[in-house]
Amino acid sequence: MKFFSQYLIFLHGLTTLTVAQHIVTDPVAACTKLGASLAIENVRVNLAQYLPAGTNISLTQNYNLSSCGYISQVIPKDICRVAMYVSTSNRSGITLETWLPTNWTGRFLSTGNGGIGGCIQYPDLAYTVGLGFATVGANNGHNGTSGHAFYNNLEVVHDFADRSLHTGVVVGKEITKQYYGTAHKKSYYLGCSTGGRQGFKAVQSYPNDFDGVVAGAPAIDFTHLTSWSATFYTIFGNSNDSTYVPAGGLWALIHQEILNQCDGMDGVLDGIIEDPQMCQFRPETLQCPPGTTNFTACLTSAQVGAVREAFTDFYGVDGKIIYPRMQPGSELTAEYVYYTTGPFPYSVDWFRYVVYNDPSWNAATFNRLDAKAAADQNPFNIQTWNGDLSAFRATGGKLLTYHGQADFIISSDNSPRYYNHVSRTMGLPYSDLDEFYRFFRISGMGHCNGGVGAHAIGQTAAEVSTLDPQNNVLLRMVDWVENGNGPVTVTGTKYDDRSQGVSFTRNHCKYPLRNFCTDSANYKSPESWTCIE
Ligand SMILES: *[C@@H]1O[C@H](CO)[C@@H](O)[C@H](O)[C@H]1NC(C)=O
Ligand SMILES: *[C@@H]1O[C@H](CO)[C@@H](O)[C@H](O)[C@H]1NC(C)=O
Ligand SMILES: *[C@@H]1O[C@H](CO)[C@@H](O)[C@H](O)[C@H]1NC(C)=O
Ligand SMILES: *[C@@H]1O[C@H](CO)[C@@H](O)[C@H](O)[C@H]1NC(C)=O
Ligand SMILES: *[C@@H]1O[C@H](CO)[C@@H](O)[C@H](O)[C@H]1NC(C)=O
Ligand SMILES: *[C@@H]1O[C@H](CO)[C@@H](O)[C@H](O)[C@H]1NC(C)=O
Ligand SMILES: *[C@@H]1O[C@H](CO)[C@@H](O)[C@H](O)[C@H]1NC(C)=O
Repeated sequence: MKFFSQYLIFLHGLTTLTVAQHIVTDPVAACTKLGASLAIENVRVNLAQYLPAGTNISLTQNYNLSSCGYISQVIPKDICRVAMYVSTSNRSGITLETWLPTNWTGRFLSTGNGGIGGCIQYPDLAYTVGLGFATVGANNGHNGTSGHAFYNNLEVVHDFADRSLHTGVVVGKEITKQYYGTAHKKSYYLGCSTGGRQGFKAVQSYPNDFDGVVAGAPAIDFTHLTSWSATFYTIFGNSNDSTYVPAGGLWALIHQEILNQCDGMDGVLDGIIEDPQMCQFRPETLQCPPGTTNFTACLTSAQVGAVREAFTDFYGVDGKIIYPRMQPGSELTAEYVYYTTGPFPYSVDWFRYVVYNDPSWNAATFNRLDAKAAADQNPFNIQTWNGDLSAFRATGGKLLTYHGQADFIISSDNSPRYYNHVSRTMGLPYSDLDEFYRFFRISGMGHCNGGVGAHAIGQTAAEVSTLDPQNNVLLRMVDWVENGNGPVTVTGTKYDDRSQGVSFTRNHCKYPLRNFCTDSANYKSPESWTCIE
């Protein structure tokens, strides 16, 4: 296959990313040839097709994929799309796609997954191939958003725990090499939530898979997270229970009270809590006084007790912490995820199809013994809690993680907990961890994206402000790996409405520093903030 290389300079604002560009000269023929000649063990090619930029592909196949919610995807650059089935055992396998740009930077990237799915994240493939990466995405071993495929099949659980991602990387790198006739130069990972856990799993267990890992809101300490997620239904119950706090006005009241107690701790009342770990919310201020007849603006004792429990760390039968409390600040969304809508579906599926192999398991009976059963099982070490990252460090690998401080699914308190676990396990203060592991707390970001804060940090295509590495965690990672320019702060952008332009930007601090406003009159200006100990 013929290609030529040229050296190009991209100017991304202040920083220069120099890159060798490989350009496939006859991509139509090259893609057809790749599909016909590919011979990799356990790989069956379903499709190998050249797609010019602007092609709008349909993603509405059956196979439970409709639950993934992806209907179509516009291809941003000319690519060779290869779709495959890769068997991982005699009763499991992954569907895998590699998107190979005609104009290639020499960089390889794997995308991740979400929830307990089952879905190739096509928007992430499009985002990263558009930036010139040779990109892979896998379905994590099953199709759709349900965990039903785990039932009576630990091979599918194995794919979900770590085998799908690693297999996709091994196969994807080989296909990349065959297509361009030369191996990738650097390898990257981009994912959030379950995708964040997958990134940490790679760092912990497959330290050679990636040179740079961007892993947001990681679902690490996985069985403990899954157990914690199951607690909310037992805390609040349903509309017949005295502990129930219905969606709407009362949660707005609780949220406002949390802001009253904690918003000002960062120097400004802007509706954004920079460091929820400092917020020890006291719900008793909302207790209805004796003689109350109108319960729309205060909480009963049973409700106060439930709210307090939701914001209290969850402890196990052995007296040790299972999982930290929900961080205060996310109530206006979390009320619809955890507090008012019945059992959390991912937890239900995990206990039914993995822990107990019992589709009739009743989430209303969940208790600490179930949490212990799930943790004791820990299939394929899905926990993803190893605090020793020395193998990854030794390869020169870099890990950038971020966590929205208004996350309504995975408590943001868990990310500092893991950071500190690594610090103790490796015996390294943060000044040494900085060499390979940096953690940013993104105030006012919900779960992986969105929210009232400056949440656009380039973590997905929809969250791009500019391609300046200061504003874009993926390109910052490239700059860190290839030029040694590690992030000191991450600048997030808030748009109320994109057509109106930027609402404000804010520099998010590297843990354990926290953000403090020194000029509250000008809190929308990034210069009004400083990172303090
Ligand atoms: C892509 O096709 C889908 C229908 O398959 C359509 O709804 C969508 O608007 C198209 N996107 C673009 C950008 O043309
Ligand atoms: C998953 O969906 C793909 C189509 O994207 C299909 O080829 C594959 O057979 C499906 N896998 C299962 C286990 O149904
Ligand atoms: C789709 O999911 C349901 C359970 O959610 C499962 O019973 C069924 O076998 C799945 N179908 C395919 C084709 O994977
Ligand atoms: C599947 O593989 C397992 C272990 O590799 C083996 O014990 C089993 O006999 C195989 N089953 C079939 C149907 O080939
Ligand atoms: C390859 O991509 C780079 C960066 O986007 C661009 O500057 C260059 O013009 C492209 N080359 C070709 C031949 O399309
Ligand atoms: C509340 O109780 C009534 C009467 O026992 C029952 O019919 C209803 O299903 C219950 N509601 C919920 C949400 O469980
Ligand atoms: C109950 O209190 C709310 C809020 O204070 C008020 O809007 C509402 O009118 C009251 N309802 C009654 C029946 O007094």
